[in-house]
Amino acid sequence: MTAEGIILVTGGSRGIGAATATLLAEQGRNVVIVDISPEPLVNTQTILWPAPFDVASESAVVGGIADIEAAHGPITGLVNAAGVFGKMHRIERVRMDQWDREVNIDLRGTFLVARSVGVKMAERRHGAIVNVASVAGMTSGPIHAYTAAKAGVIQITQTLAAEWGRSGVRVNAVSPGFTRTVALEAGIDSGALNKKWLESPTAMNRLVEPIEVAQAIAWLLSPLSSGVTGINLPVDAGYIAGTTWAAYGGLPETSGA
Ligand SMILES: NC(=O)c1ccc[n+]([C@@H]2O[C@H](COP(=O)([O-])OP(=O)(O)OC[C@H]3O[C@@H](n4cnc5c(N)ncnc54)[C@H](O)[C@@H]3O)[C@@H](O)[C@H]2O)c1
Repeated sequence: MTAEGIILVTGGSRGIGAATATLLAEQGRNVVIVDISPEPLVNTQTILWPAPFDVASESAVVGGIADIEAAHGPITGLVNAAGVFGKMHRIERVRMDQWDREVNIDLRGTFLVARSVGVKMAERRHGAIVNVASVAGMTSGPIHAYTAAKAGVIQITQTLAAEWGRSGVRVNAVSPGFTRTVALEAGIDSGALNKKWLESPTAMNRLVEPIEVAQAIAWLLSPLSSGVTGINLPVDAGYIAGTTWAAYGGLPETSGA
């Protein structure tokens, strides 16, 4: 148990959550990771909560947060990185059980964990929360439930920031662009995703690295961002900036001599 408190990272066993937990531990923070499929992060000082933790289950979240704080001390930082990707379909083929799954994990789960942790942070008048949204929540795409869920995450981030702003709790979001996680690379390898199509609309003509999202999250959790709450910070290699240029003939390859 630590006096300075812990940072809880949901979805911490893989991808952006794992990169963030690893970075925060390297920065000397006390990090506990939870996941629905818990696996330790080798060669890190992170602590694995060994029981499966389902962010979409209210009883599991409420009970799990109480048990984690009893075992490891107060949660002073929260990273809501657990999530599932959207299934890509024409609208006629959107299955409502898949819709419910994506909304339940990505939006409802983010709210459940943020509320369970944030209420206690507000009582203690100290804490920072970062929700992982997506550029998909700021644009449109054939991933109907996912875009709606991520737009909801951006919205609840503002609402929670206003809710707890006078209680010393900051709440922000990051919106990654296409990020080179193992899961994304598997999608590229299987042919479900096309790397060139993911890269070419971005200003920087590349994918985002998980560590780049982690750095933004670490900043939003740290006192360096003490005046920042309620924002959504895209970390997208310029996806939002570049994507509209197709209407004007596309992005320039390079500028200057
Ligand atoms: N990789 C990208 O390109 C990208 C882009 C934008 C946003 N995001 C978002 O970033 C977050 C992390 O995604 P990632 O790319 O690291 O994916 P990932 O699949 O590598 O990691 C997600 C983690 O969440 C866990 N998880 C899934 N459902 C859960 C549940 N119900 N309860 C607890 N844990 C659960 C998984 O087991 C996994 O460890 C997600 O919210 C995703 O939507 C990812």
